[in-house]
Amino acid sequence: MLAANGRCLLLVLLGFAAAAKIKDPHGIFCGKDNCYEVLAVPRNATKDEIRRSYRALSLENHPDKNLKKRDESKEKFARIAKAYEVLTNSTKREEFDFHLDHPDAYWIKYGSHVVYKYAPESDVRFVLLGLLLAISALGYGLQYNKYQRAVKFVIAAADANLRTTQGGNAMTLAVRREAEGILAERQKARQEAAAATKPAKGTPKPSRKEIMEEQAKELRGIIEELAMKVEIKGAHRKPTIWDVPAVWLCLAPLRIARRCAYFSRWLMLSKLGGRPLPVGDIEYWTVRAVGKDTWDAADEAARKEAIQTEAWRDATALATWRATYVEGAPLASKGSGRRKSKSSPRQE
Ligand SMILES: *[C@@H]1O[C@H](CO)[C@@H](O)[C@H](O)[C@H]1NC(C)=O
Ligand SMILES: *[C@@H]1O[C@H](CO)[C@@H](O)[C@H](O)[C@H]1NC(C)=O
Repeated sequence: MLAANGRCLLLVLLGFAAAAKIKDPHGIFCGKDNCYEVLAVPRNATKDEIRRSYRALSLENHPDKNLKKRDESKEKFARIAKAYEVLTNSTKREEFDFHLDHPDAYWIKYGSHVVYKYAPESDVRFVLLGLLLAISALGYGLQYNKYQRAVKFVIAAADANLRTTQGGNAMTLAVRREAEGILAERQKARQEAAAATKPAKGTPKPSRKEIMEEQAKELRGIIEELAMKVEIKGAHRKPTIWDVPAVWLCLAPLRIARRCAYFSRWLMLSKLGGRPLPVGDIEYWTVRAVGKDTWDAADEAARKEAIQTEAWRDATALATWRATYVEGAPLASKGSGRRKSKSSPRQE
């Protein structure tokens, strides 16, 4: 943990160091060097100081004096000459000072195409990381959007008190019933409170219509609160970290290893050995066959049936199971007396 933190810190520091590097791809000043550093003078150096330093350095680095490292000293000599040229031209020196203080203005002043020239030099890993994060945000957002739509549907269906034949389902009906229960309790409490205190004189009695409207509004408010708490399963479930591709990708090797383990067990036991698979393995293959979202949305009876009919290796059984239990229902399960909805908020 500590080592990981250290590495993180190092990365951040490196990032700052890279940002502090001078960017001058046009070679208008001293390229990636700081002209002042090349001449080893402070930023407030006078022209005289600059001249003196230049003389000393150019003598020291003259190619004729460094025959052994001729190429290297030639290059260094050129850099010193360039720095001298920049710092002794007061216009250029001013521009360079400005560039040091406002590195970003360089692109505006000397042409933005260099931005493109520079793009490939930015670390590919960071670009990929950024891309992954963008995709992750998108993936999460899409799932959240789906979930929001499902919640809206629950609210609308419960508010309109739709029956199963009208598009409602066990979940929306349960929400409706619970909301009505809460409303009734609240009304009772209010009536009791009103009976205990004397009504103020002169307050006009609300009309029947007003009372009905007020009740409908309150009921809708309760339904909205309940709908947020309902556990929606299946494809429209609330997004979790598993909907973030970055997380998903990081755990991919683990998943692949798990799958390999299941596969090799199936190969050894069932395919080659002709023996039955352990219960856990059968469930794993069944989940794979029906799809994780469908499995999550299915109730206990449906799951049992899928396992018993061996839907994982029998295509006909799988098709039959799907026809019986999925039926393209957008939300959890359609309610019928036989199959109790697992998603009912009453059970929470
Ligand atoms: C440059 O600034 C430093 C302090 O920052 C000062 O000591 C030095 O005398 C200054 N030099 C000139 C030439 O102004
Ligand atoms: C100083 O630099 C500017 C451009 O930055 C240039 O136009 C000018 O000719 C230079 N002056 C001398 C004396 O070299």
